[in-house]
Amino acid sequence: MSTVLNVKALSKSFGGLRALNDVDLQVNSGEIAALIGPNGAGKTTFFNCITGIYEPTDGDVFFTPLGATECRVNGMKPNSVTELGMARTFQNIRLFKNMTVLENVMVARHCRTKAGILDALLRPPHVKREEKENIEKSYELLKYIGLNKHYNDLACNLPYGDQRRLEIARAMATEPSLLLLDEPAAGMNPQETASLKELVLDIRDKFNLAILLIEHDMSMVMSLSERIYVMEYGCLISQGTPEEVSKDPQVIKAYLGEESHA
Ligand SMILES: Nc1ncnc2c1ncn2[C@@H]1O[C@H](COP(=O)(O)OP(=O)(O)O)[C@@H](O)[C@H]1O
Ligand SMILES: [Mg+2]
Repeated sequence: MSTVLNVKALSKSFGGLRALNDVDLQVNSGEIAALIGPNGAGKTTFFNCITGIYEPTDGDVFFTPLGATECRVNGMKPNSVTELGMARTFQNIRLFKNMTVLENVMVARHCRTKAGILDALLRPPHVKREEKENIEKSYELLKYIGLNKHYNDLACNLPYGDQRRLEIARAMATEPSLLLLDEPAAGMNPQETASLKELVLDIRDKFNLAILLIEHDMSMVMSLSERIYVMEYGCLISQGTPEEVSKDPQVIKAYLGEESHA
């Protein structure tokens, strides 16, 4: 088993606020790991720092795409990080609402197609071939995710749970080695959550991906993850198997604290 993501002493400050403090985290190939913690703990900031949206204040992010050598990705642009093989979904759904479901996936595949602006204007045969292949591959992916019947619907007309699944399809369209999911079950009903759980497991098994999951739904976290990292106020306060973490007094305190606060 090889390490796909290796984050060392990652820190991020916003002015006086230390949103991430010396965070070490690893995810191995074929592993589902979870990053949990109360609201404001720094989980989304962690995703933003490893995907190039924010530049870390300190620390290193090493990424080893499947079949490639290790790269240091901090400081790289988000599209370069995606191209290397890191894909993510967002806590707040980010779809092209007025494009169709199929078009949303096709656009996401852009980083795996070669046609440039001139090609798009002149449309030589190889570009037409690539376009056809893009449509086929995107449709295949929609079928896998279970959204092919809606391929021609506008993304904004999909039910909420399906919009979340479409976000995952878009992430998968970039052919990643590491999939980062930011609260994929948020706002889903129990049936949608159950089928999401199946999907995440199936993606891991079928594509042999590494998956890092931020999620508040504890039944989902506990049943999917081999390893859990717990964050509070930007610091990792615990890590281990679901069993180890759920028995850790510091974790219990962090969560009870949040509940009594709420
Ligand atoms: N762009 C930003 N500018 C200033 N503060 C930010 C920014 N992004 C996040 N923060 C702050 O960093 C902390 C962690 O936020 P976030 O990573 O969104 O937490 P989580 O995803 O765990 O709920 C919060 O206090 C938040 O207000
Ligand atoms: Mg968040």
